[in-house]
Amino acid sequence: MSKLTEKILVLDFGGQYNQLIARRVRDNNVFAEIKPYTTPIEEIKKENYKGIIFTGGPNSVYDMSSPHYDKEILELGVPVLGICYGCQLICYMKGGRVETAVTSEYGKIDVKVDKKDSLLFKNIPDSVVWMSHTDYISEPPAGFEITSHSADCPCASMENADDKLYAVQFHPEVTHTEYGNELLKNFIFNICGCTGEWKMEGFIEKTVEALRAQIGDKKVVLGLSGGVDSSVAAALLSKAVGSQLTCVFVDQGLMRKDEGDFVENTFTRLFDMKFVRVNCGDEFISRLKGFTEPEDKRKIIGTEFYKVFWNKVREEADGGFFAQGTIYPDCIESGKGDADKIKTHHNKVKMPEDIKFDGIIEPLSNLFKDEVRRVGELLGIPKELVWRQPFPGPGLGVRIIGEITKEKIRVLQEADAVFRDEIKKSGIENELSQYFAVLPDIRTVGVMGDHRTYDHLIAIRAVTTDDFMTADFARIPYDVLARVSSRIINEVDNVNRVVYDITSKPPGTVEWE
Ligand code: XMP
Repeated sequence: MSKLTEKILVLDFGGQYNQLIARRVRDNNVFAEIKPYTTPIEEIKKENYKGIIFTGGPNSVYDMSSPHYDKEILELGVPVLGICYGCQLICYMKGGRVETAVTSEYGKIDVKVDKKDSLLFKNIPDSVVWMSHTDYISEPPAGFEITSHSADCPCASMENADDKLYAVQFHPEVTHTEYGNELLKNFIFNICGCTGEWKMEGFIEKTVEALRAQIGDKKVVLGLSGGVDSSVAAALLSKAVGSQLTCVFVDQGLMRKDEGDFVENTFTRLFDMKFVRVNCGDEFISRLKGFTEPEDKRKIIGTEFYKVFWNKVREEADGGFFAQGTIYPDCIESGKGDADKIKTHHNKVKMPEDIKFDGIIEPLSNLFKDEVRRVGELLGIPKELVWRQPFPGPGLGVRIIGEITKEKIRVLQEADAVFRDEIKKSGIENELSQYFAVLPDIRTVGVMGDHRTYDHLIAIRAVTTDDFMTADFARIPYDVLARVSSRIINEVDNVNRVVYDITSKPPGTVEWE
């Protein structure tokens, strides 16, 4: 990272789109990093940022508990762009006036550009933007010019070009803002003077070089789950140090049909490394015997998984380094506290103290998910893995309601494989964010030929979402649903009924447990 000369700081005031702003900047090949508004100014000064973006936030600038920042940041000579709350904050910090509007502006709003020669609005005509605010700028600070307005907002944007301070009341980072990307490009290239040096090809080259220098002739152990992040980390490390890398893959028997074999084949065939697979499905089933409560099951699966995993790592550890597929969103310290946890997730667990490594390596810790995928593609990882939909740590364990048995795992794996196959064939795969089968703990009566049946019910779930915090059930065409239903009942033994889950999140969650 130290070799990067171009960096934009996204200073987070608690807005909901902070990561999106950084991703949009990076989409334009300029590195952006997010830091909370509590970051000391001295730390910011050291970094030589080419530009700074103040994010939105849920507060009013006159509220004393609202996030504020040292005024010096506007005097560093580094261009600043304030967005929404960030726009009002610049106004407030520079002595302008912010008021609460009678009518809030929310949604798609037409704005008219007033300052045609503004660098920020270069090649941007009157157009639609995305607004979400109640407070507004009633009087820009001295030295600032209004650059655009809307019917209800006399100052939709303002600037003091001499001091390189720019502010927009709307959200250029969301796609509803017609020329949002052009505006961000104007800021990062025309105003901040960036050239666009953040490219994944360059990232791979520099990272491989840095990993080689750091690792030398030592060993590296990586926990491979078969998910996107750990897979890409494995491929990157393999490129850097080949067989000095050992990947530990714990197959707890709760993966999708044939998935364990697919992961093993992929990594042993395509990449130079030592691949250690631990098959412990039977042990997991015996540990889970008799447990039906979702949280109990999650905890047992998590605890068992890490017990098996660390035991294997302990065997493989021989000094050297421990690597993980941590990505940037796992590391961002946000401008607001963590949202309440609804379910126990077991993604981050501490290493037992008796296991000793020389250091931890997290080669993807600066990348967003879409960048990780790009790196994965460039490294030649198969599309099925790089574009794999999210899969929960506890695997099918949270999709089998009630007690988990070998027979239930078989039924669910088969049904899920049929569902996925039909979605693939129907050509709607890319429209769905996640789709899978669930095995509820009930049996229902049916009729097959002349016989009464009393068998399992399969529920299928498919959702569309941007962030998995909220989701909607996917409107899968009826004929696709019909094919899925008939194939599951015909091809999977002991299933006689299929239902489709039409619950959005909230009130439902994506997974059933
Ligand atoms: P929920 O069910 O909370 O799921 O709406 C949101 C997203 O998170 C995934 N999920 C998990 N991922 N460990 C994970 O790594 C877990 O324990 C876990 N539980 C849910 C879920 O598949 C969905 O994509």
